[in-house]
Amino acid sequence: LALPVLDEALAARLKARLVEVEAALADHITSEADFVTEAARHLMDAGGKRFRPLLVLLAAETGPDAASSQVIDAACVVELTHLASLYHDDVMDEAALRRGADSANARWDNHVAILTGDWLFSKSSELTAALGPDAVKIQARTFSRLVEGQILETVPPASEEVALEHHLRVVAGKTGSLIATSALYGARFAGAPAEVEEALAAYGEIVGAAFQISDDILDIASETEESGKTPGTDLREGVPTLPVLLVRRAKRAEDARLVELLDSSLESDADLAEALGLLRAHPAMDEARAYVIARAQEAKDLLKVLPEGPVRDALEAFADVVATRTA
Ligand code: FPP
Ligand code: MG
Ligand code: MG
Repeated sequence: LALPVLDEALAARLKARLVEVEAALADHITSEADFVTEAARHLMDAGGKRFRPLLVLLAAETGPDAASSQVIDAACVVELTHLASLYHDDVMDEAALRRGADSANARWDNHVAILTGDWLFSKSSELTAALGPDAVKIQARTFSRLVEGQILETVPPASEEVALEHHLRVVAGKTGSLIATSALYGARFAGAPAEVEEALAAYGEIVGAAFQISDDILDIASETEESGKTPGTDLREGVPTLPVLLVRRAKRAEDARLVELLDSSLESDADLAEALGLLRAHPAMDEARAYVIARAQEAKDLLKVLPEGPVRDALEAFADVVATRTA
């Protein structure tokens, strides 16, 4: 993830620490059982932006102990938790592609994918225990929010009126929670003051929501070469996303065909392509993009507790990159 506005010394420090995180991650996901190592490494080797570890490292720059080994451990904890959740998510979403590679469920089967996710989560838990009881508590809370978000995604909202609210709750749970924790861990394990930790956790929560919604926009707007995933996966699985909810809420007469397609199973490739074409040209896409940009601004406003300087600039740039990402 390239941050456009970045102080050279800060960039060099972050780069060196990301290398450390990468090596530590490789270490953590090595099992005595070769097949487990292979399955667990599969998605990590396929790529990934290391967005959450980078946020841990960046948030750690607000405290005096940015270079502590606990910060590296915390970066590994959030990435391992994220990785675990992807194995499970691809089973639930019946996704065949992830990071430009076969998903674990496609390469092996659902059993392997689910158990590998569990195994990765156990590795993350082991490492969290080394960070102390407070971290265990935060991790448990993050995990329950992740799972609650994911469960709520599978149930319909109580009524049409609360569809958007319900969706934002899902997004906050399944993505905001872990990204908030990434920022919080960085500040905490670098010894930042309590008000900075609190502001960064709130910042991470909002950046996380923006990140998920831009991901959902990309499910519609981008091609496999950019996203490494199959476009329209959410549509086909009937996973509600902001652009689709905005189309439904607008109730425009000219959207009759699109709504009919969205209500259908979208099993045929032609139907899916037609739905994607109509959605891509729909004003709801720009409305969703504007929402993401507004959230990023809200997140940046929270950074006022930090002194002006390269770290605050980088956290601002990070929020901007999330809002305008194309991959
Ligand atoms: C991706 O969303 C999925 C998540 C952000 C969280 C998924 C959480 C779980 C499956 C529960 C947690 C389980 C463990 C073992 C930690 P998406 O499907 O919208 O995004 P995608 O386009 O990347 O697939
Ligand atoms: Mg998915
Ligand atoms: Mg999903």
